[in-house]
Amino acid sequence: MKRRKFIGITGVGTGVVLFGGTSVLVTTSGSCNMDGMMNMDGVAPEVLEGAFDVPLPVPPSMSANGAALAAQRTTATVFKGKTSTVSGYQPGGILGSTLRASTGDLVNATLQNNLAEPSNLHWHGLLTPADMDGHPSDVAQAGGSLSYSFPILNRAGTYWYHPHPDMKTAKQAYEGLAGFFLVTDAEEQALGLPAGEYELPLVIQDKRADAAGKFAYSPSMTDEMNGLLGESVLVNGVHSPMAEVATRTYRLRILNGSNGRIYNLALSNGASFTLIGTDGGLLAAPEAVASLLLSPGERADVLVNFSGLSSGTEVFLESKTFSGSDYQGKQAFRILNFKVKEGGADPFSLPSSLSTYSPIAEGTATRNRSFDISNGGGHGGHGGGMAMHNINGKSYDESRIDETVTAGATEIWTFDNTEGIDPHPMHLHGALFQVLDRAGGRAQVFPHEKGWKDTVLAMPGEKVRVIVAFGQEKGVYVFHCHNLEHEDTGMMLQMEIG
Ligand code: C2O
Ligand code: CU
Ligand code: CU
Repeated sequence: MKRRKFIGITGVGTGVVLFGGTSVLVTTSGSCNMDGMMNMDGVAPEVLEGAFDVPLPVPPSMSANGAALAAQRTTATVFKGKTSTVSGYQPGGILGSTLRASTGDLVNATLQNNLAEPSNLHWHGLLTPADMDGHPSDVAQAGGSLSYSFPILNRAGTYWYHPHPDMKTAKQAYEGLAGFFLVTDAEEQALGLPAGEYELPLVIQDKRADAAGKFAYSPSMTDEMNGLLGESVLVNGVHSPMAEVATRTYRLRILNGSNGRIYNLALSNGASFTLIGTDGGLLAAPEAVASLLLSPGERADVLVNFSGLSSGTEVFLESKTFSGSDYQGKQAFRILNFKVKEGGADPFSLPSSLSTYSPIAEGTATRNRSFDISNGGGHGGHGGGMAMHNINGKSYDESRIDETVTAGATEIWTFDNTEGIDPHPMHLHGALFQVLDRAGGRAQVFPHEKGWKDTVLAMPGEKVRVIVAFGQEKGVYVFHCHNLEHEDTGMMLQMEIG
């Protein structure tokens, strides 16, 4: 039996609305307009492709140590020939620089909050002390600033940063606030992976824009239930871009930075990706994959070999259809155009092994916890109203600790979406994990779910078990669904590591 969703936003004016024969509790609230309600069990809006002739921008790299990020409202050319109002971490541009550091570095970075509302920085995937992690209530008010200082404990990998203020994460990320945080180490350096112009960080995000290219964060009730899915798919802040590539092997560091959209990534010429890493760094060995289903928050580190293709060939990074969700995955669309130009011989040769990654034995776990993420019912949370999204029937409450974990513990966590109707990419702060198994639904662990992870997708009908290696840092961290509308409408809990 699939459950229907119960809606309730705290605020004034509560009523019950009937549609589809189901009564839904509705309250009026400034952030939730009703336009989308007729569409609540419908299909995601159709993706509209652009001309694929605008060059792909690559955010500049800077050392994470000493980085000064200034969150602000500004403008950028997101859509060809149009000026969009966006947010960025610098004037005149969406997103932020790619921050770089090496394992063992001590990083100091500052956030100047020039937004008109609270903000902060969360270092997604990095193991930081709790007070450096960008907890939802640890914010700089409008006009204020925050300093972050922490050592890089993680291995080489594709991490990222974004704001995490309570109930404003979805809005601020959607408006443009996010960036890559790339960590390297000696093990990775020894591989001689494609670098410089042959390494492309790609953040994929979708927006809903008007004809003038403006996008404002104004989720409908449908968006708050499903996650806001936009019609325009951007890469590095530009709609339908084109990247000239040489006849070489490229390293693509792909981040799904979308609020709610899942992509089933593939190459239009049928070539496979060589998967070399996932959320938390390199795999033990490369693996060829035909497609990659990437949910919000997840990363894939892949090699694509363009050598052997003739000059002028166009290869698209595309999203193929997928099953598992009633709402999304029905449409195939193109995302990015790689245009091949002659580039001489490819000097790269693929190493047969990549890293010393090894799996954690299941028997070493000292505790099991299970989380019902089916969102059937729920109570408590923001102001005590019926919450739209929850975990174990509880929605986010900053004054409540939901789980207490021993520092350094190894535990098995189960995300149970057996009775659910929405996909939920579940994300932990303060720890990395490995995916043990998936029961129901797709019933397997995919290549891009191997290695160290911090986000894992549980489709409706699925129960996913992960083995978590908690760090030694003590304090309060959150864990949540990385569908950002779900997160902001309550699908987040707190754990205290002690
Ligand atoms: Cu990328 Cu708590 O999030
Ligand atoms: Cu995170
Ligand atoms: Cu969710």
